[in-house]
Amino acid sequence: MAGIQVRGLHKHYGDLHVLRGIDLTVDRGESVILLGANGCGKSTLLRCLNGLTSYEQGRITMAGQSLETLSRRQLRRLRCNIGVVFQQFNLVQNISVLQNVLYGALGRQRFGLLNTWSCIASASLRQQAMAALERVGLAEKAAMECRQLSGGQQQRVAIARTLMQDADILIADEPVASLDPRAGREIMDLLMDVASERRITVICTLHQLELVEAYGDRIVGMKAGTIVLDQPRVQASSHAIQRLYRGEVRVDQAPSLLAS
Ligand SMILES: Nc1ncnc2c1ncn2[C@@H]1O[C@H](COP(=O)(O)OP(=O)(O)OP(=O)(O)O)[C@@H](O)[C@H]1O
Ligand SMILES: [Mg+2]
Repeated sequence: MAGIQVRGLHKHYGDLHVLRGIDLTVDRGESVILLGANGCGKSTLLRCLNGLTSYEQGRITMAGQSLETLSRRQLRRLRCNIGVVFQQFNLVQNISVLQNVLYGALGRQRFGLLNTWSCIASASLRQQAMAALERVGLAEKAAMECRQLSGGQQQRVAIARTLMQDADILIADEPVASLDPRAGREIMDLLMDVASERRITVICTLHQLELVEAYGDRIVGMKAGTIVLDQPRVQASSHAIQRLYRGEVRVDQAPSLLAS
């Protein structure tokens, strides 16, 4: 079963045709690095995969579930199965690291309010959350508020939350864009190690081409809302990757540029 399957996906923002017929399959446990110039539609594609934005045409199947057929409640449940790590550390800043990780298990519970719930989370959930923090090397920071952590540490918390979710799929949108090169590599190492230990399907955008040589099973390249490169990483030439950025083609520019 594919982890992620996209067929004939089209998406507009007003007059702007952002996704122009995307076909993509990511096998279960496979990791795909998604590349392309600013504005080519990467984040929009990831938002479609997560059910965060609508699309006019096409089909998306995530972990065997067809997005178009899900009720709001089913979509919420599916999202509990999808870990997210974004450039802007998407954690709750004024609560503790442990509470943020516990938040990953919230979808499995009946309670709604994060603060109330995390105060009364069972000892076994707390143990799981501490084990997740241990795995990402942050157990000693469990009681600190997230805003007191560095960017790299915050991304570790987001990865621990994915572990706590027991997610099957991880969507990472520029997870290392705000980090220095060394911290960026550490986070990518951790993210990929955790994914392979748990057989998590990964789709991850990056702008640091030096990292592209080291991570992911497959490279998928977008240009102006279409996929123009899809190869195993070991086969993807740096020339083909460089071409993705030539001319900085944006989706609001002429599609004829795609031929270059
Ligand atoms: N909410 C929105 N409303 C209107 N237009 C949008 C919206 N989000 C994105 N766009 C437009 O869609 C296009 C694709 O944007 P998107 O964020 O998907 O690009 P990207 O490939 O992720 O770029 P970057 O590498 O800069 O993150 C851009 O032209 C952008 O301006
Ligand atoms: Mg983006």
